[in-house]
Amino acid sequence: MRLAINIDHIATLRNARGGSEPDPAGAARICEAAGASGIVCHLREDRRHIRDADVHSLRQSIKGKLDLEMGATDEIIRIALEIAPDFVTLVPEHRRELTTEDGLDVRANKRQLEGAIKTFHQHNIPVSLFINPIREQIDLAREIGSDMIEIHTGEYADAHDRHKQNELLKQIQLGATHAKSLGLGVNAGHGIDYSNVAPIAAITEIDELSIGYAVIVRSIFVGLDHAVREMLALVAR
Ligand code: PXP
Repeated sequence: MRLAINIDHIATLRNARGGSEPDPAGAARICEAAGASGIVCHLREDRRHIRDADVHSLRQSIKGKLDLEMGATDEIIRIALEIAPDFVTLVPEHRRELTTEDGLDVRANKRQLEGAIKTFHQHNIPVSLFINPIREQIDLAREIGSDMIEIHTGEYADAHDRHKQNELLKQIQLGATHAKSLGLGVNAGHGIDYSNVAPIAAITEIDELSIGYAVIVRSIFVGLDHAVREMLALVAR
């Protein structure tokens, strides 16, 4: 299982003082040197953390895979085609949310998502859809030509009741198995931290985890290199 690190919150910190430090591309290089297989960033419509120049800089400087997380809007699609990340992850995006709140509703947005997938495929860019582990959503993702899915683990991560958490874990496991049986690549992420990663990392059908906030927060105390290595050790175990 690969570990991709989301470095959005390095940019949040950089933007707090309007300067150039800490530099997201510099952080990405540290994550890669510590063993991360890829870097994730979310270019939001409001540019609240990652900016266009950051994505260009990441594209040029990282060695592993660049996953550009984005809403399927014309403006961001145009920028993504220019940057040519290794793959894009399409997410629902709402202006007032603190972070991505839910998975995509593939049925309700079928035409828009199908069009975006076609456009990316014309440019040889694979597409992942961020969805909840629901069979219908997975089937639709396959039907409209998605290459991968990213299973939304946020509800699992937020569940404090053990019974509920086990139920949600079972859904993630079933979703991952079903997606794999359809030939889809399977990523997972959102809300994963050092205390809840182990059961997710035990799901062998998941190819890659996308983790951001917990690692960046931990890095304040132990350094980014160490924070990534600690997470990698838990994933490997
Ligand atoms: N995957 C997706 C689609 C996300 O939107 C986010 C948050 O940016 C993550 C993974 C990473 O979540 P977290 O920062 O909670 O680890």
